[in-house]
Amino acid sequence: MLCEDEIVSRFFATRLFVSPEVVAYIREQDDPGLIDRIIAETPRGTVVVSPACIPALKKVRDGTRFLADPTCEVLQGMENSAESIRDFEEYVSYFRNRFTRLSTFMRGRIQPVPIEALVRTGRYQEEAVSFIGMVSTVRSTANGNKMVEMEDTTGTMRVLFNKSREGFAEAEKILPDEVIGVRGKLSQDGNIFFADTLVRPDIPLSNAPYRSDRPGRAVLISDIHIGSNTFLEDEWRRFVDWLSAREDIGYLLIAGDLVDGIGIYPGQDKELVIKNIYRQYETLGEMLSALPDRLKIVISPGNHDVVRGAEPQPAIPPAFRNGYPENCIWVENPALVSLQGVRVLMYHGRSFDDMIGMIPGASYRHPEEIMEEMLKRRHLAPTFGLRTPIAPGKKDPLIIDPVPEVLLTGHVHITGIKRYRGVLMINAGTWQSQTAFQKQMNTVPTPAQAVVLDLQSLEAEIVDFLKPEA
Ligand SMILES: [Fe+2]
Ligand SMILES: [Fe+2]
Repeated sequence: MLCEDEIVSRFFATRLFVSPEVVAYIREQDDPGLIDRIIAETPRGTVVVSPACIPALKKVRDGTRFLADPTCEVLQGMENSAESIRDFEEYVSYFRNRFTRLSTFMRGRIQPVPIEALVRTGRYQEEAVSFIGMVSTVRSTANGNKMVEMEDTTGTMRVLFNKSREGFAEAEKILPDEVIGVRGKLSQDGNIFFADTLVRPDIPLSNAPYRSDRPGRAVLISDIHIGSNTFLEDEWRRFVDWLSAREDIGYLLIAGDLVDGIGIYPGQDKELVIKNIYRQYETLGEMLSALPDRLKIVISPGNHDVVRGAEPQPAIPPAFRNGYPENCIWVENPALVSLQGVRVLMYHGRSFDDMIGMIPGASYRHPEEIMEEMLKRRHLAPTFGLRTPIAPGKKDPLIIDPVPEVLLTGHVHITGIKRYRGVLMINAGTWQSQTAFQKQMNTVPTPAQAVVLDLQSLEAEIVDFLKPEA
């Protein structure tokens, strides 16, 4: 397999620079003649070889999209679609569905053999081979290498990632229960697989986000926490005044933690100004009623809300919707919503708590970096059995499919925006100032910020309401 430096210098020898996407594509193809063919087909005068120069990497979206509702349509996570939790057997079909669907995303890039077939012949000790598996355990060895146990429907295999190999940084981020592909060779005794390449389901390099064909803007917010004594009332009022005047904005998306809830953490009652859960929701209903009725308001729950914690979380039940305006659309967590054809995947973000602890260098200060890790895994909550409860079902609703234009999360109370392979990642901050718990944890939130998403350009802008002059 060619290493990155080799690829870059092969191009450089012909006075060409090469973009990281093209380097990744060449490595995945593992075709020795590919570089020469790309160089031969690159038009004269090109300085940087980008995906646009390669026919196989042509952007796949054609710019048209069938819209049942030209404005706002819930594509996944519509009310009452979450299955109720049945018995333990469901986990078997849940994980099988996860394995099968995530494997499909990798099949164009590697040709996997079943694990059972690996050990049946001696040829894979000599010749490179690929397989796909779900990670059952992952640990560091005494030498600082990574030992991962992988499982498919036919068997299990121990896989060693050597720290001196290129791409080891990605191996260090392997999480339990994620589905990965590996290429490498089998040990002489057939007990260990030496990996030299790690492949993830990932966003295709050819992904081209859809853009609305007409003007339209949405405001994205999260974590309002009504009922808490740290809810920022004045800032919210300024937000309402601003939003009322912005006639170009047609949608408001709220990504969970609508209210602070009751009994969510020890001693919470001392920090509540509204101690009744119904009253908390009623207050939010009054606040949303003050907004212009041209807005379509999409509301999904979070871990402070009244519904079950296990994901997918059902929509807020009708009993808590008293006094809400008619223009509210109640969805589950997660939910995929189409705004003028632009698909926004809303996910509250409970799994940040798990992923931040396991990915080297990850921090609450940069939720957008973790969102990129979700996209690479095509999964919103890869690891099972930690702080993110997952309700099993026949299908895994936490798989990221189709690829959205925008991934919207909340939960960490810190605004963050980044783009990865065409997908715009937005963490929408909070409307609550620093809580006693956050002070203890040294977490500094970015409260009272709203993110405006332009559906035509797919550009996002942060508007700050913390200061009166905003
Ligand atoms: Fe929150
Ligand atoms: Fe939360």
